[in-house]
Amino acid sequence: MRNLYLRVKIASQILGHDSLGEQNEGVKASLLIESLTGNTWRAAEMVAGNLQQEGWSITGLSPMRTPDHASIQDADVVLVGTWVHGAFIIGQAPWNIGAIRALPALRGKKAVTFCTYALNPGRTLGAMESAVAGLGADVIGGMALHRAKLGAHTEEFAARLVGVVTSV
Ligand SMILES: Cc1cc2nc3c(=O)[nH]c(=O)nc-3n(C[C@H](O)[C@H](O)[C@H](O)COP(=O)(O)O)c2cc1C
Repeated sequence: MRNLYLRVKIASQILGHDSLGEQNEGVKASLLIESLTGNTWRAAEMVAGNLQQEGWSITGLSPMRTPDHASIQDADVVLVGTWVHGAFIIGQAPWNIGAIRALPALRGKKAVTFCTYALNPGRTLGAMESAVAGLGADVIGGMALHRAKLGAHTEEFAARLVGVVTSV
């Protein structure tokens, strides 16, 4: 599964307790973004739009360095996005992991990570997951989005997120 490790709550889905769609109504999400040339910000806007189409509310979309605290407080799910920095096929890492570590505590929140990249994200998502888990969040997954395929990848990401977050 390409760059994807959303942990699906298989048991509840198999048991059919949480049918998709109606149960997702009212899920509130905040997006926190680091972006240099705009790809990750654009990806965040696309993901937010897709989630809204599925009935989610977006409490805010803000830069990671100046996070909108109220939007985080109001959210059930926090999406943390940045871009891959490295030597393209070696040494890849999330840009500004320090800004992730400096975010407000996310105890009691579900969180999801994503990064945009050009060639190969390497272990970026794993490093992001550790940083976000360090804030106290329950990190339920993440996805690397190719900068040249943002439309398709953001759609897939949002669809999987809606499928995983079956209750809040
Ligand atoms: C200095 C620099 C280093 C980069 N290193 C990598 C890399 O190691 N691997 C990769 O896949 N993409 C790499 N990229 C590409 C970016 O991750 C990609 O363009 C991303 O979408 C940029 O996001 P932004 O527009 O939100 O800043 C690099 C870009 C820059 C500017």
